[in-house]
Amino acid sequence: MSELKNDVFLRALMRQPVSRTPVWIMRQAGRYLPEYREVRGQAGDFMSLCKNPELACEVTMQPLRRYKLDAAILFSDILTVPDAMGLGLHFVSGEGPKFTSPVRTADAIRKLRVPDVEQKLGYVFDAVRTIRRELNGEVPLIGFAGSPFTVGTYMVEGSSSREFPNIKGLAKEAPDVLDHLMNIVAETTIEYLNAQIEAGAQAVQIFDTWGAALEGDDFRRFSMASMQKIIDGLIREKDGHKIPVILFTKGAGPLLTDLAETGCDALGVDWTTDLASAREYVSDKVALQGNLDPATLRESPEVIRQGVADTLASYGKGPGHVFNLGHGITPDIDPDHLGALVDAVHDLSPKYHE
Ligand code: CP3
Repeated sequence: MSELKNDVFLRALMRQPVSRTPVWIMRQAGRYLPEYREVRGQAGDFMSLCKNPELACEVTMQPLRRYKLDAAILFSDILTVPDAMGLGLHFVSGEGPKFTSPVRTADAIRKLRVPDVEQKLGYVFDAVRTIRRELNGEVPLIGFAGSPFTVGTYMVEGSSSREFPNIKGLAKEAPDVLDHLMNIVAETTIEYLNAQIEAGAQAVQIFDTWGAALEGDDFRRFSMASMQKIIDGLIREKDGHKIPVILFTKGAGPLLTDLAETGCDALGVDWTTDLASAREYVSDKVALQGNLDPATLRESPEVIRQGVADTLASYGKGPGHVFNLGHGITPDIDPDHLGALVDAVHDLSPKYHE
């Protein structure tokens, strides 16, 4: 494999000194880019795009051609895992993901098995290998998976949900059944992420979009414990290089203190917690990634630049910051506005590393 030409992202995750703050953007490959919409049209639909390694590679590369980003992220989805378990994933346009066979009952959950990951998810590992070849060492590639609780919300509710009535019902009325679901998804995710690492992913991120919808003790028992299990099972070093792990629990707030003890290298922070407070919560034990409000990208380039300046100042001096939004970029954003953000990080961050 080719030598990495830009390791500023990996260094920042390990809290090593860098000359500027690295930047990548959650959902950087996506519908706000006209060239993405074109390739998705070519593929037919979103899952066909995910399952075609050449096209998945093409859309992964698109944002890197436009912007000076310091990492690529595999183009795929967190719901490939329950799809591989046989739940029948499909996307209904305008409504998001849907499962043909959600698992609501104790019986259905107890019947779930860890699937043959190589056989069912081989298209993902093919995409990782294709992307690594195409990247040719320019920037590192991030692999990812969802947290068991976040993936579990879609498996149990059957689609996107705001209130999570069914899975929260399990947490209260049948916690051992929910433990079982968390364990099966965690075991599958360990195999899934390790296979991404074997195929060439140089860092991994676990997306815990919905864990913080649980109350504190339930968060620790179901979402955090299952992420801990994953971290404990991951390959942490390959070919003499450390594989950093990023946990992103949206809305974690003070729970960041607990999350910093899981053995992860970095924590994602959303915009509801400022980075200065987050840094206190984690006592500089782990790196932090974030956290500009994605809505800022709807404002003028001047306002975006000020938002970047404020975010950098909030983290302050020293290593251990990866610039990102506090959640994914939305489809309505003008691509030039993301350019203004990335340029501002390049211009304004060096002084925090002198
Ligand atoms: O960040 C990246 O660029 C990598 C690709 C990526 C996608 N989904 C592509 C995608 C990643 C990392 C995800 C993660 C994901 N998927 C999460 C966790 C992160 C988050 O945003 O909270 C969740 C909850 C999902 C599940 C999911 N996938 C939903 C709810 C939807 C529909 C919502 C929507 O935005 O329409 C998807 C579809 C999806 N995944 C799209 C993309 C680019 C849009 C599909 C399309 O092209 O129509």
